[in-house]
Amino acid sequence: MEITLSVIKADIGGIAGHLKPSRALLEAVEKHVAKESGRLIIDYRISHTGDDVAILMTHREGTGSEAVHKLAWDAFISGTETAKEQGLYGAGQDLLADSFSGNVKGLGPAVAEMEFEERENEPFILFAADKTDPGAYNLPLYLGFADPMHCAGLMLSPAISEGFKFVIMDVAHTEEDRVIELVTPEDLYDLAALLRDNERFVVSEIYSRHSGEQAVSASTTRLHNIAGKYVGKDDPVLLVRAQGAFPATGEILSPYSIGHYVAGFMRGSHVGPLMPVKLNSPISFFDGPPVVSAAGYSIREGKLTGPVDCFDHPFWGYIREKVSRKSVDIREQGFSGAAMLPYSELEYGGIVEKLNRLDSKFVIRK
Ligand code: 13P
Ligand code: 13P
Ligand code: MG
Ligand code: MG
Repeated sequence: MEITLSVIKADIGGIAGHLKPSRALLEAVEKHVAKESGRLIIDYRISHTGDDVAILMTHREGTGSEAVHKLAWDAFISGTETAKEQGLYGAGQDLLADSFSGNVKGLGPAVAEMEFEERENEPFILFAADKTDPGAYNLPLYLGFADPMHCAGLMLSPAISEGFKFVIMDVAHTEEDRVIELVTPEDLYDLAALLRDNERFVVSEIYSRHSGEQAVSASTTRLHNIAGKYVGKDDPVLLVRAQGAFPATGEILSPYSIGHYVAGFMRGSHVGPLMPVKLNSPISFFDGPPVVSAAGYSIREGKLTGPVDCFDHPFWGYIREKVSRKSVDIREQGFSGAAMLPYSELEYGGIVEKLNRLDSKFVIRK
């Protein structure tokens, strides 16, 4: 019987700014979800990454289930009430609609889901990032699934060597889902040509060409495009199944050692390196740096064992030092050039008004 993994995440308020949710907020969310454990859902875990709260659920309702999405939505509404009572910053930030209708997609929360036949042993990783957007996963997914520099299985395992099918979404197209399918290794350079543009083209799914099974599901929401104005970054979640016909857990984690530069950081308008952090880490320097956490699980008949905190290991301490250094390096150039996002990605309307006002003061010299 098929199992569904659903992760639905939202920022519903932070203590002292966009840093982390409160214990009481997390408890309110958990209390709501727990009521359906063993009923609508089989199992669940609640965690936070920076100011974003992720609800991971296993169930047999399939992807896009109205009942499961409503459970998460109502849990976030409940957490928002606590956030308001406590005067947390940005209470209900990502809940953009007044009421739930059918599916959380387009309502503000980010969602990643996968339905599959459980393997005898079923390892997967839940990634959650804050102060960045879905394109942050482009490079790590490319390297983890298509580059033998990180995925040794592409050389060593016959099943993995058959390659993968990438589904890429054009997130600038907001009316409906506009996607393209590319296969590796044949389409490698075309894939790179799209994935270099993190704000436009985003990995949505990846499938094994050996078994046809789905390995990856990523959230592709752009709050920017839903709300029409800045309400917060589109802090993305990602589900990745590991081992067997998929890359090993360590191969999937390997590209996060780069600390590559992504969009986000302060006011969602800057460029900063992606720091792999421990589960339930807060945010700090310059409302950043952008962070990603990785929770590893095994699953049997929908029951979760874990998490293993994948970035809680001495190795990642060394990487965090490097990423801190990269953060300081780019912050040293403040607002100049590559340190900030292009005009179209700036998350505050204020600068548009400012530039319009200045534009009217320009004169043509005779
Ligand atoms: P095992 O030999 O323990 O299955 O490990 C294989 C593997 O995937 C290591 O990366
Ligand atoms: P979040 O999207 O995580 O709420 O961050 C917003 C922000 O403006 C940080 O400076
Ligand atoms: Mg926030
Ligand atoms: Mg956030």
